[in-house]
Amino acid sequence: MTTQLTETTQLTQFLDKVESRTLRVGVIGLGYVGLPLVLLFEERGFPVIGFDVDPQKAEMLNAGRTYIRHIGEERIRKAFTNERVDATTDFHRLEECDAIIICVPTPLGAHREPDLKYVRITAETIAARLRRGQLVVLESTTYPGTTREELLPRFEETDLTCGTDYFLAFSPEREDPGNEHFNTRTIPKVVGGMDPASLRAAQALYGAIVDTVVPVSSPEVAESSKLLENIFRAVNIALVNEMKVVFERMGIDVWEVIEAAKTKPFGFMAFYPGPGLGGHCIPLDPFYLAWKAAEHGTWARFIELAGEVNAGMPRYVVDRAVEAINREGKSVVGAQVLVLGLSYKPDIDDDRESPSFELIELLQERGAIVSYCDPYVPVARRGRKHDLGLQSVPCTAEEFARYDAIVVSTPHSQFKDPSLYENVKVAVDTRNVVPRGAAVRVVRA
Ligand SMILES: NC(=O)c1ccc[n+]([C@@H]2O[C@H](COP(=O)([O-])OP(=O)(O)OC[C@H]3O[C@@H](n4cnc5c(N)ncnc54)[C@H](O)[C@@H]3O)[C@@H](O)[C@H]2O)c1
Repeated sequence: MTTQLTETTQLTQFLDKVESRTLRVGVIGLGYVGLPLVLLFEERGFPVIGFDVDPQKAEMLNAGRTYIRHIGEERIRKAFTNERVDATTDFHRLEECDAIIICVPTPLGAHREPDLKYVRITAETIAARLRRGQLVVLESTTYPGTTREELLPRFEETDLTCGTDYFLAFSPEREDPGNEHFNTRTIPKVVGGMDPASLRAAQALYGAIVDTVVPVSSPEVAESSKLLENIFRAVNIALVNEMKVVFERMGIDVWEVIEAAKTKPFGFMAFYPGPGLGGHCIPLDPFYLAWKAAEHGTWARFIELAGEVNAGMPRYVVDRAVEAINREGKSVVGAQVLVLGLSYKPDIDDDRESPSFELIELLQERGAIVSYCDPYVPVARRGRKHDLGLQSVPCTAEEFARYDAIVVSTPHSQFKDPSLYENVKVAVDTRNVVPRGAAVRVVRA
């Protein structure tokens, strides 16, 4: 890699366009990551085109409507009624863009191997239209080496040279949907360029929309930093889930233990147990690194162990629920059970990889008749792995009183109201949301 930055005409023009806000940004993949980026670029004065393969998404955005609850309709309407911005399924329009940011999914395949098909298709789509002066940035979470091994070779098939004709970088997304303290603008952005000119271009682009840009020496470092962040969470959640099981056997309340431990002002960070991992990132991303590590003849044992502990949680919770129902003198077969929360984290509508699905299916396997309540997910959508065919029941005390047991899976704010539990028979609470002192019998699981 060249270490000296030589400012070519292409780079100078790129930087000038950023400065004058005439640089047109294309964002590919208008989901939880891509859509907030489109809005931020628009709000910072850039012309933006949002690309997605889903025509419904493009139509909704252009009509000023949202499909992600925590991104309000007002913000969408304001952005998309501005003539600088539109959404499209026409990828020929990539030619119009000076910067192209890739935010497509990076799921796992059937055997927990990285599934890069969306990244590859997108790289080919861009390569077919790549022109001088463009910057391409991959934001999708992936294993170290993806930008160099999957994007660069496809772009090299053109007669253009990276670092002089066009620029290539990786910058991980750190979106935390629903977080009221941080947003896309205030979360520092790590950037790794394929060469010094690519880094300079990417730094300038992100520097125009976020408060802090953190440059690193290569795309591989940027790719790895994202994985380290998510592996850190997965391992610590597994640790506290294991502590939950151990302390429960000893008759010790893990929640009280965590509250006490977190009074230490240094060297401890609180993680909380739960019914298993959810969301697009923490359950999936660590395995991207584990897979790549194997290619290098090394093993990521913590990742595998954390995966095993976390994956065992839904079954653990269901065992506790069955015991709790038995203790009420009732068999789980035919018992009416209400699961609270279908989304994977509080106060948002994202139900991807949510452990609630597995809880519901495991309870059904044991013979329970299961309903769910989630004010954010009125209908359980058909997913890649699940098709519950259920609709949310109302979030009221009268409704809750109808069930033989309540299993709290997601700590939505609405579920913290003590009056909801006044006539509940038994609550199996995986999130410590049922208020202490409530009349109901609570099993913390
Ligand atoms: N959701 C998060 O909180 C989060 C946080 C950090 C990183 N990430 C990462 O960001 C990436 C995107 O995640 P997301 O949550 O936004 O996913 P998402 O499923 O919400 O959105 C992806 C979008 O890409 C579209 N798409 C699929 N194939 C496409 C293609 N070939 N061309 C154009 N569009 C295509 C889909 O229709 C969808 O609208 C993933 O790699 C994910 O791991 C997500």
